[in-house]
Amino acid sequence: MATIQAQKKASPGSHILVISTTWKNHTDYGLSKEEVGYLDGYFKDAAKKQQSFNSCGRIISVLLVDPKKEAHLVMETCRKHGGSVADMVNGIKGKDLNIYNATKQVSYSYAAAEGAALANYQFIKHKTTAKDQKNALQHINLTGSGFDAKVLNKLNIVVSATTKARDLVNEPVNLLNATDLANAFKHMGKEAGFKVEVYNKKKITELKMGGLLSVNAGSVDEPTFTIMEYKHKAKNKKPFVLVGKGVVYDTGGLSLKPTPNSMDAMKCDMAGAAAVGAAMYAIAKAKLNVHVIALVPATDNRPGFNAFAPGDIITMMDGTTVEMLNSDAEGRMILADALHFAKRYKPELTIDIATLTGAAMAAIGTSGIVSMGNAPKKYSDKLKASGNNVFERLAEFPFWDDYADQMKSDIADQKNLGSSYAGSITAGKFLEKYTDYPYYHLDIAGPAFIPAKDGYRPKGGTGTGVRLFFDFFNSI
Ligand code: BES
Ligand code: MN
Ligand code: ZN
Repeated sequence: MATIQAQKKASPGSHILVISTTWKNHTDYGLSKEEVGYLDGYFKDAAKKQQSFNSCGRIISVLLVDPKKEAHLVMETCRKHGGSVADMVNGIKGKDLNIYNATKQVSYSYAAAEGAALANYQFIKHKTTAKDQKNALQHINLTGSGFDAKVLNKLNIVVSATTKARDLVNEPVNLLNATDLANAFKHMGKEAGFKVEVYNKKKITELKMGGLLSVNAGSVDEPTFTIMEYKHKAKNKKPFVLVGKGVVYDTGGLSLKPTPNSMDAMKCDMAGAAAVGAAMYAIAKAKLNVHVIALVPATDNRPGFNAFAPGDIITMMDGTTVEMLNSDAEGRMILADALHFAKRYKPELTIDIATLTGAAMAAIGTSGIVSMGNAPKKYSDKLKASGNNVFERLAEFPFWDDYADQMKSDIADQKNLGSSYAGSITAGKFLEKYTDYPYYHLDIAGPAFIPAKDGYRPKGGTGTGVRLFFDFFNSI
């Protein structure tokens, strides 16, 4: 991981990124006459907004921003550009990147540094030749004044937390089953300072978590239910509860996912769990003044001998009976028990996050999070604002009661399958039944795991949700 730090003085000769509104050279940049001449000429064309090049082994990059544009869009431009410059620096095994900011907005420096640090991520622990492939970038230096040590600290924390989430998502199920995931949370709790309690199968059975047990029935591995809690000089009286889907692998169960391809990425089905665990890590490391509880029901979903069969009627933890018509709609089965469990905390607000429906991805692709819920407007607005701030944007879907009708069963209280339309919403409505508190639902099936690198988001696990939650709780 690269560290983001402030530095008072320029370090001449190192790789640089200059952020400005218009191009103008400064002696601090340490550019040669030829380099200045080239940039002067290049930016004469007012349409040109960025240029990066390798000048005799030194990466030189200039980004011109338009402060009249919406703030969050400018920030994202800086993040993306920071990411691309980090890639160039890594391309020539550079260790340091200096960011100069000629504008008055220090936030542009933070954003560029964040993009660079996030782009520096690699998942190469399983490569036996990793040594020669490891990124060289170690320091991202913000040159100038006005930087806030607290903000820098939080930036480093949230980048490292995002890294942890990405690592968990990228780890395959043969190396990360439900128990391993729970153990990973225990480690994170120890390191950052939050409580972690893990229920095993015996306890889950005693609690009659029928949804979680039904999904686990076809597996040889035990399910886990993890409870994480952080409280420090909390501004909120009632706790916020986060719930993350922890399906460590989703084969679809007996409703087996079809070949080819549809199962390949399904180690990512615990991305919601990774997001809440890593968010807890960041919140605790930064010692935010909040009380947050995170719940993770975890299991793999497999078609083993005792696997739950379409048609089965499952009694959930709250006593609701569910006609289980498709074992690939397993996420809602395990989340329902966790949402019911959350009632005991009398939450101020509960937010769940899950790679829940292919329909979410079909609707908006990998660019954003499908969201919905009945939370007070002040919270849904705040989440949407955080989504814009960190560019994990929320696309809010309707949450009308009509959609719940589709989940009625003729022979049980509910079924776990709706019609072929509005699949993300019917899943959300299914879950709402298990709540008695303000509720908001985030479906990250699209952005959690992406097929190709996209700016500072690496191929594979992206860590979606971590920065969103951190921004949300950072300003509670
Ligand atoms: N884990 C999947 C959803 C998913 C799809 C996540 C693609 C990431 C990428 C989920 O458990 C699932 O299989 N959902 C079904 C629900 C259906 C059977 C009602 C789906 O979306 O097809
Ligand atoms: Mn599924
Ligand atoms: Zn799933």
